[in-house]
Amino acid sequence: MTTVHVPLDDRAYDVRIGPGLLSRAGAEIAHLLKRPRVWIVTEQTVAELHLASLQDGLSVEGISSEALILPPGEGTKSWPFLMQTVEWLLDERVERNDMVIAFGGGVIGDLVGFAAAILRRGVRFVQVPTSLLAQVDSSVGGKTGINAPQGKNLIGAFHQPSLVLADIEVLGTLTQRDFLAGYGEVVKYGGLGDGVFFEWLEVNGPALAAGDMALREEAVRRSVQMKADIVVRDETEQGDRALLNLGHTFGHALEAATGYSDRLLHGEGVAIGCALAFETSARLGLISQESPSRFRAHLAAMGMKKDLSDIPGDLPDTAGLITLMGQDKKVEQGKLRFILARAIGDAFVADDVDMGVVRSVLADALAGR
Ligand SMILES: NC(=O)c1ccc[n+]([C@@H]2O[C@H](COP(=O)([O-])OP(=O)(O)OC[C@H]3O[C@@H](n4cnc5c(N)ncnc54)[C@H](O)[C@@H]3O)[C@@H](O)[C@H]2O)c1
Ligand SMILES: [Zn+2]
Repeated sequence: MTTVHVPLDDRAYDVRIGPGLLSRAGAEIAHLLKRPRVWIVTEQTVAELHLASLQDGLSVEGISSEALILPPGEGTKSWPFLMQTVEWLLDERVERNDMVIAFGGGVIGDLVGFAAAILRRGVRFVQVPTSLLAQVDSSVGGKTGINAPQGKNLIGAFHQPSLVLADIEVLGTLTQRDFLAGYGEVVKYGGLGDGVFFEWLEVNGPALAAGDMALREEAVRRSVQMKADIVVRDETEQGDRALLNLGHTFGHALEAATGYSDRLLHGEGVAIGCALAFETSARLGLISQESPSRFRAHLAAMGMKKDLSDIPGDLPDTAGLITLMGQDKKVEQGKLRFILARAIGDAFVADDVDMGVVRSVLADALAGR
């Protein structure tokens, strides 16, 4: 078991990482509670597999719990389910000093974190992330929210959790595809800030994907540590936090182009997007020519999508993809912002990227299909 501390003054918290945390949940949470009672919000898939373990882990410490079970899927991150969650918590008479538990992947974490942020002007919550993506990314850093009909993640608030419990064992029930999508964010961390971690992933990635628990714990720990370091430097994304968006400008355009459907999961889009960001960096002469192919070779070795040719179905043309990139929420004053790199493991924020180069990268990638 390891702990990553997120030192944010009066909003500081621990991220506990390791196997068996669900059954220890009561012991981990008890010191934060004013009364021995918690409210769990989760979704069907996770509830069927793991809710009993969490509730048992709480009750051995004398903590009683109520659970609200929502449908799984991105559609749950929306106004109707936010309303349902908030009204359920009010009906349950959850008070300012009580604790809400977000138990699920990034969808539940974002939704429940936001519900906690607005309920009675803010109640505390614990993240118990169950997907790899949620463990390495969405459960840490305090970004919460829902999607609007106008776009993803457009409604939200910063609200840091009081504790994060990342139980490595629960990853064992993820489908291989969901696991590897989460791995897209893991490899992003290597790409953006730690070349040694990327090399470690090249060596250990396949065994980790095959189920090695110690390697999984180490990958989650290093990812969370990197995210925590960046969030502490820039909690509300005025600067450095944008580095976490490596691969996301391309990735979001691809997600939009595929209608946020099963054709491309978020983490898959991020992994392809990272490869495209390295390709762009190489064409701008910022990074060696070998870097993009080395990055793609690792994705291929992991059995992941690595290029536009791996996305099933039709895609828009270059101009269409560029338009979709312009709808990204990271656009400022109409300017596209890219995260580029000087090496695998050394990314930076670039505001004045030659769009001709971006067009040529996309055109060649589309031609390769
Ligand atoms: N707040 C942030 O900083 C941040 C960062 C990255 C992503 N996100 C958000 O996270 C969301 C994506 O997260 P996600 O990929 O976890 O999606 P998700 O919550 O939909 O989970 C993915 C799938 O895995 C299933 N699942 C989850 N845990 C499981 C388990 N242990 N066993 C079996 N199945 C399990 C879910 O039912 C779902 O089908 C997006 O909405 C994205 O915007 C937020
Ligand atoms: Zn992401």
